[in-house]
Amino acid sequence: MIELRDVTKTYTVGNEVIYALKSINLKIEKGEFVAVMGPSGSGKSTLLNIIGCLDRPDSGEVYIDGIKTNNLKDDELTEIRRNKVGFVFQQFNLIPLLTALENVELPLIFKYKNRLSERERRDRAIRCLKMAELDERFANHYPNQLSGGQQQRVAIARALVNNPPILLCDEPTGSLDSKTGEKILKLLKRLNREGKTVVIVTHDTSVAEYTHRIVYLRDGRVYFED
Ligand SMILES: Nc1ncnc2c1ncn2[C@@H]1O[C@H](COP(=O)(O)OP(=O)(O)OP(=O)(O)O)[C@@H](O)[C@H]1O
Ligand SMILES: [Mg+2]
Repeated sequence: MIELRDVTKTYTVGNEVIYALKSINLKIEKGEFVAVMGPSGSGKSTLLNIIGCLDRPDSGEVYIDGIKTNNLKDDELTEIRRNKVGFVFQQFNLIPLLTALENVELPLIFKYKNRLSERERRDRAIRCLKMAELDERFANHYPNQLSGGQQQRVAIARALVNNPPILLCDEPTGSLDSKTGEKILKLLKRLNREGKTVVIVTHDTSVAEYTHRIVYLRDGRVYFED
């Protein structure tokens, strides 16, 4: 489902070259639930962004659902990102001026423009809010009227709305108390059982209960898999 071959990524800041990823080789099968762990600055977010086509490697090959993505044009990369991956972030990244439901509808507007009726868009978004286990009576609330856990459910619903095979989650429980975080992990596990391939970056060691495998990064390299 996901394969990285000898992937290197550098950032240049002034005269300094920072190796964020060094010759990473990684294979994640369809239906796996994989955690990525490691110290701050070890390259976890960079790895997720490259898998999710938000960023490109300097060298190496990236395959997503059988498609080699590292040489694609920008608009082709956008297509892959839209259809293959859903992103979930620590800070939820919801748009404050849109309701929960409107936040979930937004990717459908980007993808389909006006080719989906308002009704159909609404129905799909409501279905995804249900999948993310957010009570329907919160659908018309704005993000600041929701708890952190509820906001993360909205963000997960938004990540699901284009029905991607892969969910990429960057510290999805990092802003939540441990009990709420556990509920979000349970939700991700359920989505995984229902067929999603899930990759989660986390500092939360209890994640091992939920995942099939943990990949540890250090200084931009995979140093351990468990
Ligand atoms: N846009 C950027 N410009 C310059 N350097 C960057 C950029 N993004 C990341 N880096 C550097 O690349 C390295 C890896 O960063 P990354 O964000 O992937 O780490 P991380 O493992 O996600 O850390 P954290 O746990 O703190 O989120 C770090 O040294 C970081 O400073
Ligand atoms: Mg990070």
